[in-house]
Amino acid sequence: MPHTLFEPFRIKSVEPIRMTTRAERERLLDEAKLNPFLLRADDVLLDFLTDSGTSAMSAKQWGAIMEGDESYAGSRSFFRLEKVVRDLTGYQHIIPTHQGRAAERILFSVACKSGDVVPSNTHFDTTRANLEYQGVEPVDLVIPEGLEPRTRHPFKGNIDLGRVEALLAERGDRVPFGMITLTNNSGGGQPVSLGNLRAYRDLLARHGKPLILDACRFAENAMFIKMREPGWADTSPRDIARETFALADGCTMSAKKDGMVNIGGFLALREGRWVEAAKNLLILTEGFPTYGGLAGRDLEALAVGLDEVLDEHYLRYRLRTAEYMGQRLAAAGVAHVEPTGGHAVYLDARSILPHLAPEDYPAWSLCNALYLEAGIRGVEIGSVMFGKRLDSGEETYHSMDLVRLAFPRRVYTQSHFDYAIEAICELKARAHEVRGVRITHQSRYLRHFTAELAWADAKVG
Ligand code: F0G
Repeated sequence: MPHTLFEPFRIKSVEPIRMTTRAERERLLDEAKLNPFLLRADDVLLDFLTDSGTSAMSAKQWGAIMEGDESYAGSRSFFRLEKVVRDLTGYQHIIPTHQGRAAERILFSVACKSGDVVPSNTHFDTTRANLEYQGVEPVDLVIPEGLEPRTRHPFKGNIDLGRVEALLAERGDRVPFGMITLTNNSGGGQPVSLGNLRAYRDLLARHGKPLILDACRFAENAMFIKMREPGWADTSPRDIARETFALADGCTMSAKKDGMVNIGGFLALREGRWVEAAKNLLILTEGFPTYGGLAGRDLEALAVGLDEVLDEHYLRYRLRTAEYMGQRLAAAGVAHVEPTGGHAVYLDARSILPHLAPEDYPAWSLCNALYLEAGIRGVEIGSVMFGKRLDSGEETYHSMDLVRLAFPRRVYTQSHFDYAIEAICELKARAHEVRGVRITHQSRYLRHFTAELAWADAKVG
């Protein structure tokens, strides 16, 4: 029996990719003010900007779309989704939202007050920004290995329990709940073990604090547990996911990831404490609680997606994709976060571009170079995303400068990945030519989305 692990699906509908030349890409990136977010997707060959909302839906999901009940109140599609999410999570209260950040904003608005502190392994950028917007301090307490790109550890997304304990001892009265991101997206898509999660839950419980999961990649996390955590090899990803949710009191969910849909999310809570206030806010800004800013058909597609994503063959192929790319990059000496994450490969720009200083934004520069070289769009997870220009004018920098190549689910085939691997290896050979950048215009929150940049060595005026 051959052991090549192939894509566990056939393709029924295709989208053409428009080819571009290097000269065109130079012009296009200039027009986008050196910000890949401002490129048109049609001008990108392989779009690894994100795995969020970019999944290909299955025939079964498209079929379910036709069954969407578009009633304003009491939609059948909502009750279908509610049942699926209750079965999976065990949580009673399911509040649909248009995407993850809406669930975050609603939760933080009703459960936090200004001056509060919320620990996590690493808050994702929208989570961090939504907390800060409420005057809450997000604290990232991932284990030290989680910040060292080339230190191998099976669960680099684990939270540092000692530091959580210290935080609770010093400022426990300010902590409304603990959070944890599964998998740890900003830290390399790294998983959290059930052992760590249980210990974190126990610690929080001793202080009377609930645990909220940022669950958007819960299925990938479950598969890592199956493959790496002793004692779980014979349990299905679905049962591991159930066990995961059982350890927490609720979750925010961007269904655009492991929900396998193009739009959607939810807030799910075990207990009623925040529910009424959350639903009131939902009605104010998202919609009635049986659709929450989504169409009935979106709720249907999500109900199917949450089931499909837990298929073990799919998850094995999914994690193998990143691992395959990681192995080939490692063989070529291209530094990246190891082991590879669930949804993405994270290139270590500081190591690949040693001639660039932090103020040259090496990860942003590498991201741009990859677009120019091969038409590949990644995303910077580094000091443009997480650094800041303080009111004093001083700049802060992030602990790592990574380029994330995130893989849309069920969209690209192995030859797409082979092309990307070749491109990265060729770029590495000419890494010393990659130019740094400077930010010329930025906004106060989430500046990376709209920032304008210029080449660091460009003559001004
Ligand atoms: N939490 C995590 C861990 C995320 O990765 C994201 C989104 C969100 C919350 C917010 O969800 O986009 O539905 O509002 N991450 C995308 C990404 C944008 O590219 O990683 P959303």
